[in-house]
Amino acid sequence: MSRAKGFASRAIHHGYEPRDNEGALTPPLHLTSTFVFETAEAGGELFAGERSGHVYSRISNPTLDLLEQRIAELEGAEAGLALSSGMGAITSTLWTLVGPGDEIIVDKTLYGCTFAFMRHGLSRFGVKISHVDMTDPENLRAAISETTRVVYFETPANPNMRLVDIARIADIAHEAGATVVVDNTYATPYLTRPIEMGADIVLHSATKYLGGHGDVVAGLVVGNCEQIGEIRLVGMKDMTGAVMAPFNALLILRGLKTLALRMDRHCATAQRVAEWLETHPAVCKVHFPGLESFEQHELAERQMDQPGGMIAFELEGGLQAGREMMNALLMIQRAVSLGDAETLIQHPASMTHSTYTPEERAEHGISDGLVRLSVGLEDLNDILDDLNQAMPSKPVAAAA
Ligand SMILES: Cc1ncc(COP(=O)(O)O)c(C=O)c1O
Repeated sequence: MSRAKGFASRAIHHGYEPRDNEGALTPPLHLTSTFVFETAEAGGELFAGERSGHVYSRISNPTLDLLEQRIAELEGAEAGLALSSGMGAITSTLWTLVGPGDEIIVDKTLYGCTFAFMRHGLSRFGVKISHVDMTDPENLRAAISETTRVVYFETPANPNMRLVDIARIADIAHEAGATVVVDNTYATPYLTRPIEMGADIVLHSATKYLGGHGDVVAGLVVGNCEQIGEIRLVGMKDMTGAVMAPFNALLILRGLKTLALRMDRHCATAQRVAEWLETHPAVCKVHFPGLESFEQHELAERQMDQPGGMIAFELEGGLQAGREMMNALLMIQRAVSLGDAETLIQHPASMTHSTYTPEERAEHGISDGLVRLSVGLEDLNDILDDLNQAMPSKPVAAAA
């Protein structure tokens, strides 16, 4: 029996054969909106689903096909779907899965726009959104009911790094007949494969680590063939129209080729940066799965192959000290997004998570002083030097 190929090899080769493409090493870009039918009858058969092939690029396209096969392979899923953005992936998926009267149970902490979509979007159409602290899976058992269609969470969660035990949550959700949807943007399939742990659907902001170079906005979803077929033909084709552009699919395919390499470096550097931050006198709390002090360190070791490249931390001086430190940085860039070659820093309460009210942020565990750092691919010493020169030299008293 032949040995299965490793992650990096599959990320580079899966689904593509140069011999079938004029010998081209890299896949062709199918820059076309529509596809020609050999006969009128053949067109009719394609529409009726009696013949396979491409019709129109809002439904499918060969360049997207390759990316969809590749991400499905890396996540251990049957099928994949490429969308215009992470939010396109989230909205197309949820519009497909729920209707009026259904409930979605979501974890307490979510990326700001996902939170806004649930709270201000879906809830306007009769979908009930219930937030449950899933760091204790028993909270889900207590809350779930027969109207719960979907259980949705991020792990690690943006921005405070809370983890959710995928296998335990999936067991509880499945007992009640609910579909488990995981946003795997922070971990990527290189570190965590939620389908192997019992999740049904996994989605990504491919804008982040999968693309990896800060030059594209994109989203991906994987699941079984039936679910992905429905999300393609209902959520994406008819409800959101959020299809990925073929050129963007090539950029994500290029990013995937170096995902393993980049993640190894992101994780190793982030570990050293987190350890350094933890010993700095101006820092009062570091949230990073690779630290022994991280409350869910045991779960991180069990569920993640490495701790990831994202760190959240709080300074003794709170928000004001955080702003001054960010403004003093010379190499590290003040920007939202994450997973790029450049180290990026941002303040969730006033930026990515300003979609929450202050009261909601307090209730959902997003403190005003939290700073989010996406550790890039620069040299470790240059990242540490920049942070060091920008840090308050002495702990600053917290503002009253
Ligand atoms: C965890 C997470 N999910 C989803 C999204 C949305 O992705 P996009 O910006 O590609 O629409 C983001 C964006 O920051 C994110 O951090």
